[in-house]
Amino acid sequence: MRVLSGIQPTGNLHLGNYLGAIRNWVRMQDEMDADSQCFFFLADMHSITVHEGREQRIRNVRDMAAALVASGIDPDRSVLFNQARVPAHAELAWLLNGTARIGWLNRMTQFKDKAGKDREGASVGLFVYPVLQAADILLYQATHVPVGEDQKQHLELSRDIATKFNTDFGVDVFTLPAPIIPKESARIMSLRDGTAKMSKSDPSDMSRINLTDEDDAIMTKVKKAKTDPEPLPETAEGLAGRPEATNLVGIYATLSNSTPDAVCAQFAGKGFGAFKPALGELLVETLRPMRERFVELRTDDAALDAILDKGAAKAAAAAEPTLRAAYDAMGLMR
Ligand code: TYM
Repeated sequence: MRVLSGIQPTGNLHLGNYLGAIRNWVRMQDEMDADSQCFFFLADMHSITVHEGREQRIRNVRDMAAALVASGIDPDRSVLFNQARVPAHAELAWLLNGTARIGWLNRMTQFKDKAGKDREGASVGLFVYPVLQAADILLYQATHVPVGEDQKQHLELSRDIATKFNTDFGVDVFTLPAPIIPKESARIMSLRDGTAKMSKSDPSDMSRINLTDEDDAIMTKVKKAKTDPEPLPETAEGLAGRPEATNLVGIYATLSNSTPDAVCAQFAGKGFGAFKPALGELLVETLRPMRERFVELRTDDAALDAILDKGAAKAAAAAEPTLRAAYDAMGLMR
């Protein structure tokens, strides 16, 4: 089993990232057997699709590295690195540009969302972003890729690219990766709008809970979260058509390792005036130790850089045979 996943180091780690992906990364790392290996990386090469100044970008990578370690990624057991330190990602992405089709990329909903109405003004990087993502995954022969629901389409594209490359060149260079998507928390929604996903790019900070939020900020955000006037139903079925209530119950269920049905049974007939403080408490208790660890880790840039350097050396060594095989399959002599 080869587990691999990435996160863009832009903005803070938020609850959507944590419950949708990172918690699963940590679980898979902790349950790994001797034959398995986990690779987790900061997609800083992907983050060039958002303009950022030099200093801020350097800070962002260290912030996200600290956030992942604080969330439970252990750099001694998992390979933790940033893409820019491993040039094989950019190299393989270029090779795969010969395989990926414009029509495939045109169908990517994330590109459509991010480019918005001004497609002509979007960067080429934003358009070919999923090809770099395929390279990230295929370089390591990843078998399992733990992600949130929004990355499913990119995973399917990675499989299509791998299949076409293998077929076109008559080789078996790439392994087809399978997405691992959590059942309950695959899509954590904004606290201000139950139909929009919780995201780093939402202009309102009230829409998300960040790993770095203090206890009182978390409580305030939960108390101000949009809800409806109805009490909680007896079963999760009664949440139909109530996106904000569905989201908050889902978050509670995930955090307490329970199910939406069990949470509804616990709070049946109660209003959000009773439910929100309980949810706030649960969030505070879960996030506080992670935040404290993050603050501690963030005081030592050199230690974080050393973790990423060490991870990058291991990643580069693991990537090399596949990169070499891809060049060779294409008749490109290095
Ligand atoms: P990114 O940085 O947007 O998000 C990191 C992970 O968090 C998940 N996620 C969510 N899950 C549930 N609810 C939400 N509201 C929510 N918001 C984010 C994402 O699904 C993701 O798993 N393109 C990727 C990074 C990437 C990658 C890769 C991932 C680059 N190369 C290779 C896997 C494999 C991205 O931008 O994720």
